[in-house]
Amino acid sequence: MAFQDILDSIYTEVLQVENTGKKADYIPEIEKVDGDKYGIALVDINQKVFTKGDANEKFSIQSISKVITTSLIFSKIGNELWKRVGKEPSGNAFNSLIQLEFEKGIPRNPFINAGALVIADLMLEHFENPKEYLLNFVRELTENPTINYNQNVIQSETENGYRNAALVNFIKSFDNIKHQPEEVLDFYYHQCSIEMTCVDLAKCFQVFANNGVIPQSNKQFLTSSQCKRMNALMQMCGFYDQAGEFTFKVGLPGKSGVGGGVVAIFPNHYTVAVWSPKLNKKGNSFYGLETLERLTTETEASIF
Ligand code: DON
Repeated sequence: MAFQDILDSIYTEVLQVENTGKKADYIPEIEKVDGDKYGIALVDINQKVFTKGDANEKFSIQSISKVITTSLIFSKIGNELWKRVGKEPSGNAFNSLIQLEFEKGIPRNPFINAGALVIADLMLEHFENPKEYLLNFVRELTENPTINYNQNVIQSETENGYRNAALVNFIKSFDNIKHQPEEVLDFYYHQCSIEMTCVDLAKCFQVFANNGVIPQSNKQFLTSSQCKRMNALMQMCGFYDQAGEFTFKVGLPGKSGVGGGVVAIFPNHYTVAVWSPKLNKKGNSFYGLETLERLTTETEASIF
């Protein structure tokens, strides 16, 4: 497929759409980023990379990191994971507290903040040095040894993360967090602060397009069944209370972050990452969704 021509034309079309999104302002360090940045990177199944716009600039991947930590825990403990966190779409905002009380501290899924905090707790339990392990793993998947945590973003979230502090304490009151809340938050803010470019991100998610095999090394990271399940989770929960609309309009599993990044997977075909910091009201990149809707429409191909 002529991916470069498609990216070129989508990029021009999207820039003509008025961007009604707004940058996330509850993390001051993220609000500082230039809202007009816009990049796309597509990596096909043969590892060929196509780019457009600001595809080689680093941004904070934020919630996209939840897919990586969840898959690390899934590969480590298998289906035991589902005793601690659910696998149903939440239909609520990413930082909502509302379901937790009814559901006795078992978050609906690993991609809402509540679920990601439980996964962070599991990372502390199952890896000796989880921050180092996670960083090395993303460096391996992206083949980029310069990937790092952003200390300013960590500090900014630590100083302003009242909701996450509420969530982790509330879950701990149901005994579904084993470590100290501060330790869990510290790991969670590290994972969210990871910076990547669109090219890094599209490469990082190739493993989910490749039946769980890391293409660079041919290592089977997830079983094909686990890989299917990670994609199913992204389809159902990757865009929070906009997961239905994303499925309806784009038709691919994917994940967003409040840094303005979006990544989507077409198993056995490609991965694609878009970055544009202005978010719609559901906390998903406005141009990101405009771009991906056009991609599957113009290529007339999605998983459905
Ligand atoms: O915990 C938070 O609120 C952020 N570190 C991550 C939230 C996020 O990216 C939600 N995604 N759209």
